Formats: sequence, C-alpha cells, structure tokens
Amino acid sequence: MSINRRLLLVARPSGIPGPRNFADDTVPVRAPAAGECLLETIYLSIDPAMRSWMSEGTGYQQSIPLGEPMRGGGVARVLQSRAEGFTAGDMVQARLGWQSHPTIPGRFLQKLDLAQGTVEDWIGPLGLSAVTAYFGLRDIGGMRPNDRVLVSAAAGGVGQMAVQIARIEGCRVVGIAGGLEKCAFVAGLGAAAAIDYKAQNDLSAAIGHACPEGIDLYFDNVGGPTLDAALEHLRQGARVVLCGRISQTHAAETYGIRNLGKLAASRGRMQGFLVFNYHERYDEARTWLAARHRDGSLQQRLHVLEGLEQAPVGLGMLFRGENTGKLVVRVAD
Ligand SMILES: NC(=O)c1ccc[n+]([C@@H]2O[C@H](COP(=O)([O-])OP(=O)(O)OC[C@H]3O[C@@H](n4cnc5c(N)ncnc54)[C@H](OP(=O)(O)O)[C@@H]3O)[C@@H](O)[C@H]2O)c1
Repeated sequence: MSINRRLLLVARPSGIPGPRNFADDTVPVRAPAAGECLLETIYLSIDPAMRSWMSEGTGYQQSIPLGEPMRGGGVARVLQSRAEGFTAGDMVQARLGWQSHPTIPGRFLQKLDLAQGTVEDWIGPLGLSAVTAYFGLRDIGGMRPNDRVLVSAAAGGVGQMAVQIARIEGCRVVGIAGGLEKCAFVAGLGAAAAIDYKAQNDLSAAIGHACPEGIDLYFDNVGGPTLDAALEHLRQGARVVLCGRISQTHAAETYGIRNLGKLAASRGRMQGFLVFNYHERYDEARTWLAARHRDGSLQQRLHVLEGLEQAPVGLGMLFRGENTGKLVVRVAD
C-alpha cells in the first residue's frame, strides 16, 4: 500500500506493441491533497486505441510522453478520500493509468452504482466497449428491427456486444471472427451465422452466402479487406459504422478501399465515431444495458489476465487475435 507500482511508456511502437515498449517502476504512493483520492486499481481495460496513444501524432488524442505511466481506464477502490462525495471503500471508474495506486482528483472519478451491476459488470456489460456498441448501432447505424446486420471482430469486446444488442433489437445478425472457437462463441450469442474469415479464400463470397439478402448495417471493427468485402453486399440505404480499423493500425502499408462505388450505388452512408463524444449520454446506455443484463439477454465474456505486469502482453494479444471477449487485467482483488 505504501508503493505505487507503475508501467511507464519507454519506446514508441513499431508493429505490434508489447513488453519492450514499457518499463516497470515503483514510487511511494502520494497522499491525497485537498480534492483528491488515493485509489487501489482493481481492473484495467486493455484497448486497441492504446497503440495510437503510444504513437507520435497518429491518434485522436495527444500522444503519451515517453517516461510517463501508460494511459488507460479501469475500475478502482477508494482507499483515502479528501474529495467531496467520495469515502474510503467506494468503487469508482476513471482514467487510472497503468499503476497500482494512483492519486487522482475527485472531479475525474465516477462512482460506480453497484445497484446496477457488480464491479465485473462495470468493466464488462456496462463498460465502455458495451457503450460503444450501443451508440454505434443506434446513433451512427440507425439500427431498425429486421435490419440485416454484419459485425466484424464479433467475438471481441465491442463486437460481442454489437451482436447481442442488434439481436435483442430484432435484427438478423451475422458475425465475422477468426477461428472455429470464436465462431462457435458468436453463434452462441444468437447470431444467425458466423464466418471464420481466417478459413476463407473469398471473404466476399462467404458474406454473400451468410447474408443472402445483403446487409443493411455493417458494424466495422477491423477495416481493410474485410470492409471492402462487406461493401460488396450493401442493400439500398445501407449504413456502415466505422467503429475501428484494427487490421490497419500496425500495417506497414495501409490497405486502399476499392469498393466505395458500391456505397454510392446503394445510396448508403459510412460514418465514424468516438464513444467519448457520447459522454453525457453514458447513463442512458448503461440503464438500457443493465436492464438487458439483469433479464439475462445480454452477457459480456471477459478475458482476464492476472497482474499489472500482464498489461503490455495483453495489448499485443489484441492485435494477434489472442483474446476472446473483452480483455482486462486484474490488478487486485
Ligand atoms: N469508436 C470508438 O469509440 C471505439 C471504442 C472502443 C473500441 N473501438 C474499436 O473497436 C474495435 C474492437 O475493439 P475491442 O476493444 O473490442 O477489441 P477486441 O475486438 O476485443 O480485440 C481485437 C480483435 O480484433 C481482431 N483482429 C485483430 N487483428 C485483426 C486483423 N488484422 N484483421 C481482422 N481482425 C483482426 C481479433 O479478433 P479475431 O481473432 O476475430 O480476428 C482481435 O481479437 C477496435 O478496432 C477498436 O479500435 C472503437
């Protein structure tokens, strides 16, 4: 408790990030000043966007200076509070950074409502991956009942929530994932079909087979050739949600999309978004997600790694497809 263990960013990524980009470091915990809380990190969320935060000038957020603790969100317990509205024992979420005992101003903390869900629920089905799927499908994708929906990286953190939310809202959902085991998981979430893209010579043909009537809404987590293949099957008035492009984030050469003509021919639209812009509406999403989680229609599989030191390994796993479910690191019980 007297030591704050941290992982510092020491090298910018080239290719897939991993342990070589980080250094272990310990400092004494900092007692909270007026308005601050001393926290104990319980879970850290590991997210593909972190690679862009580690890089110089490529992301949508300021890059992390070398020598600073890695940026990252998670769930923590309040150990000491000098901030109004917080007491020792409260559970909060915040941008904690990769550290075991951060000291953070109370205005940057959000207290968890444990009546809505457990701590694991708050990093899982009520967490930001779920909220991302919720707003991406509804606000950007204009999801309607009976839409034919295609989701890529469908076994991952955001993807598995997109599959389930669309299914709950009465859509016919097809998921794309890497490998038989992940496809079985996606089918178990209620998808009408799951495509193992790693086993396909012709992904477009496989999408055509699984979506014989075409696609009204494509929720894209991967970009590149997968996006191109999906564009070939758009129905009139289709919507393409650009949630992420993980296949391109560490590519030596970016893939050029060829099928934009199909977007025009379908009178479709394609739009990107960042979940952070929905900050003021997170409660709306969480109320909906918590109700579906309580009635058993919505699950979030977590892929849990044990120990702060696993965070750099975990980050690399996302880009190699080694996670099934929302990847988190448990730092403390
Ligand atoms: N717009 C936003 O605000 C927002 C917020 C959160 C996340 N995102 C984006 O959402 C996407 C999913 O994030 P997540 O946190 O839920 O990660 P995730 O899906 O749990 O993990 C990443 C998955 O991407 C797949 N993948 C990796 N490399 C690939 C490649 N070259 N081609 C195809 N698939 C590949 C892998 O699944 P397979 O084994 O199935 O290939 C891997 O498991 C990411 O693109 C992320 O940047 C966007």
